[in-house]
Amino acid sequence: MALLEIQNLATAFPTEKGLARAVDDVTLSVDKGKCLGIVGESGCGKSITSLSILRLIPPPGKIVGGKIMLDGKNLLDLSEPQMRAIRGNRIALIPQDPMTSLNPVYTVGAQIIEAIELHQKVSRQEARKRAIEVLDQVRIPEARLRVDEYPHQFSGGMRQRVMIAMALACHPELIIADEPTTALDVTVQAQILDLLRDIQRERGTAIVLITHDLGVVAEMCDSVAVMYAGSVVEYTSVDELFKNPKHPYTVGLINSLPKPGSKRLIPIEGSPPSLTNLPIGCRFSNRCFMRQDQCDLSIPPLEAKSDGHDARCFLV
Ligand SMILES: Nc1ncnc2c1ncn2[C@@H]1O[C@H](COP(=O)(O)OP(=O)(O)OP(=O)(O)O)[C@@H](O)[C@H]1O
Ligand SMILES: [Mg+2]
Repeated sequence: MALLEIQNLATAFPTEKGLARAVDDVTLSVDKGKCLGIVGESGCGKSITSLSILRLIPPPGKIVGGKIMLDGKNLLDLSEPQMRAIRGNRIALIPQDPMTSLNPVYTVGAQIIEAIELHQKVSRQEARKRAIEVLDQVRIPEARLRVDEYPHQFSGGMRQRVMIAMALACHPELIIADEPTTALDVTVQAQILDLLRDIQRERGTAIVLITHDLGVVAEMCDSVAVMYAGSVVEYTSVDELFKNPKHPYTVGLINSLPKPGSKRLIPIEGSPPSLTNLPIGCRFSNRCFMRQDQCDLSIPPLEAKSDGHDARCFLV
């Protein structure tokens, strides 16, 4: 059953060059206890999608269309206090840059305790006990001691664990992890992904995992949305995506993955269109090896090409 259902979401920023359509017609859903991957190259709207879900778009940016349904209720209809009760409590965000999200002047424990006290009526002592518990769960060694240390006393990988601990503190139904491993070295990356997988299994937490790494998607996710220039261009199960990619952009992404035995990566030539000056047709057409005249006349809809497999392309 769908926990979160995003329908035709649009988020835009007024800029000097005109309206930047950072997210435009994003439709996707996450089932309870499942993991949805969102992939796509830098600037395609992954982070703005996640910030939109929590209604944390920095002004003057604004959600200009669509619905964000959590358990059947549209979050865009809620008041700000109602929204605050959801952030961190039912939906937790692990932001893209944990270094700037932790406050350097407070101990790690104080920050987790604050998050717990914001949502739950527990004593300071109980909140502290729980902060140590979650630090322990994300495998911070000697959590009892480290709870009183400051963020700069933690390594990059441990700070990322602290962010996960903070996300876990209130038992959310959904965790949105925005590039949780990008800044980390490969072994630490694997540990963090293992940790997220354990949380998903043990607690039945649904996860939206944002990444530019298709390898991570293959390992972690049940379903996947491929984004390009603000829109979802392909949406299906992970197995189906790798077995039978349909959108030419996805085909390019999969071809650009390193393969055993082949020496060279095949990059996708060219770059995405400007968000303030989007073409009237398909946004990928200028880079597409399959392009035909009709592609530049109107935007292809995201539609089912086979059972449970949606793509935004006229030609497949
Ligand atoms: N405050 C802002 N003002 C104007 N444009 C913005 C603002 N924030 C983001 N954008 C634009 O929105 C688009 C989507 O940004 P977003 O951060 O969602 O990309 P992303 O897919 O997360 O990229 P990355 O992989 O680099 O994190 C970008 O092209 C960006 O330039
Ligand atoms: Mg991002």
